[in-house]
Amino acid sequence: MDNALGEPQTILLLGGTSDIGLAIVRELLSPAARTVVLACRNVEKGERAAAGLRHDGLTVDVVAFDGAATDTHEAVVASVVERHGDVDLAIVAFALLGDGEATSRDVAAAAEIAHVNFTGTITATIAVANRMRTQGHGGIVLLSSVAGERVRSANPVYGGTKAGIDGFAQGFGDELAGDGVHMMIVRPGFVHSAMTVGKKAAPFATTPEKVAEVTAKGLRAKRRMVWAPGILRYVFMTLRHVPGPVWRRLPLG
Ligand SMILES: NC(=O)c1ccc[n+]([C@@H]2O[C@H](COP(=O)([O-])OP(=O)(O)OC[C@H]3O[C@@H](n4cnc5c(N)ncnc54)[C@H](OP(=O)(O)O)[C@@H]3O)[C@@H](O)[C@H]2O)c1
Repeated sequence: MDNALGEPQTILLLGGTSDIGLAIVRELLSPAARTVVLACRNVEKGERAAAGLRHDGLTVDVVAFDGAATDTHEAVVASVVERHGDVDLAIVAFALLGDGEATSRDVAAAAEIAHVNFTGTITATIAVANRMRTQGHGGIVLLSSVAGERVRSANPVYGGTKAGIDGFAQGFGDELAGDGVHMMIVRPGFVHSAMTVGKKAAPFATTPEKVAEVTAKGLRAKRRMVWAPGILRYVFMTLRHVPGPVWRRLPLG
């Protein structure tokens, strides 16, 4: 249960090695925090991340989680609850970027990205939300992207999955509001993280820490959606209406 100040005591990070996810966890670690669970496909890497978070009074647990193994998602959430009790906040941060245009020529790679980013995100989010409905409280932070607001030719498979989960989260969040569960969608622009190493930064590029600040502020204000940085909301208000031939020539990184 969140404490009286609305600070979560138990946080579950799905995609437990995500740079952005871990920055959000660090930003939310108030004295109220008791437990952090890092759900990772690479448990060894997760243990290294856990070591960086642990301190007196904070339990950091690492559990195996594969976003692609959709039939395991309910069991993963159930075992987290069995070990640690109610989940106050879940951060859904796992995703694959793929190799841009190459991915949209490679059926197997496209299928994997679509399965993990779209199907896996939906099943994991529903598994967590079902538990939160039973609790009668909880918050979900879902990492979307500006890439889904208007999908670019540079990476249509990734962008398409982000458009899909963003739409899902909007409708699902509205449904969950009636059950006392708060869904917040985070739409970052280009973030310097493991996912973007070696890629040319897009305009308004930011850091995991800045995304985390925006996320924490949005959670405190019970926002439905936040952009990181905030200016991208206004940039994309315009960009989504730019005619196709112009859009295709824009230098967006
Ligand atoms: N970086 C950006 O520019 C940017 C911009 C907008 C939105 N986002 C979104 O923000 C979220 C976090 O990204 P990030 O920047 O923090 O990148 P990141 O550090 O590469 O994190 C991605 C995470 O997804 C995990 N993952 C991938 N496939 C998985 C699977 N099948 N099962 C479980 N976990 C899996 C990765 O695990 P491993 O450590 O084992 O690889 C990693 O923990 C993603 O949803 C991403 O789409 C990122």
